Amino acid sequence: MTSSSAPGKIILFGEHAVVYGRPALAVPVTQVQATATVSENSRGGVWIEAPNINLSSAISQLAPEHPLVAVINSVFTTLGIARPPACTVYLQSTIPVASGLGSGAAVSVAILRALSAYLGRPLTDAQVNGLAFQAEKLYHGTPSGIDNTVVTYARPVYFVKGQPIKTFRVGASFTLVIGDTGISAPTKESVGALRSLREADPTRWEKIFSQVGEIVWDARQAIERGDTPALGELMDANHALLQEMTVSCTELDTLTEAARKAGALGAKLSGSGRGGNMIALVLKEKAPAMAETLLAAGAKRTIITTVRAR
Ligand code: PMV
Repeated sequence: MTSSSAPGKIILFGEHAVVYGRPALAVPVTQVQATATVSENSRGGVWIEAPNINLSSAISQLAPEHPLVAVINSVFTTLGIARPPACTVYLQSTIPVASGLGSGAAVSVAILRALSAYLGRPLTDAQVNGLAFQAEKLYHGTPSGIDNTVVTYARPVYFVKGQPIKTFRVGASFTLVIGDTGISAPTKESVGALRSLREADPTRWEKIFSQVGEIVWDARQAIERGDTPALGELMDANHALLQEMTVSCTELDTLTEAARKAGALGAKLSGSGRGGNMIALVLKEKAPAMAETLLAAGAKRTIITTVRAR
């Protein structure tokens, strides 16, 4: 039996513009995890058991483009295994789905690592990242690749689509409260909506994406020098541009406003928007009170996470 876990992730800055070549910053969220466990079975064939999504099936009974099946098959293909041994891939996850916490990428990475280790030929990080990206395309259409990168390497990432992974220094630890609207919002839809807007007026949208790119660059520098107040202001500015991109919603705006009124240094939606999560930057000792504020303002759950100086 082999087992592997992968963390969730949260985008700090630059979502959506990252699809159009601008940088983005993201960090792992280790409070939530996806775990894959692979064990021998006696019923024959390769099975998936995923109680969270009520799935229990031989992969031969599912469509080959089912993302979980595709991930499993990609391991066999990469390792050149034509006749896989009878085994069961058991999945557990505490990462809410379709909420911007990288659940799809974490499940893919956990499967890729657990299954390749079970077969005695563990994949490299670069292979895991590449195969998880293929699966992200099945989940999200035209993803930038940020989710699979942060989840695979489990460290803060300054991400530019198509470029090798770059990490960054965190000058001073900072604390975020993540507030979940409880609204499940498929990434594919908001990315697609923005794509249509951009096609209708590329000049306008490229300018906005470049403004986001500058915020991301400034934010990276603020994080490196440990300037938390500047980081908060940049979060507010990024949220305003995301509103302009039509990817916020009433619930996200209510939560970000409530956070600012309660003393957050900054707040913004995180991920694809139109639901999913927002983040509020707070002093560590104020995080529990901020979590209460967000719950009172309608958040369905909160997670407190500290990005440690490194
Ligand atoms: O998967 P989410 O909700 O964290 O958002 C993905 C971030 C986007 O920039 C909107 C899309 C992408 O592929 O980068």
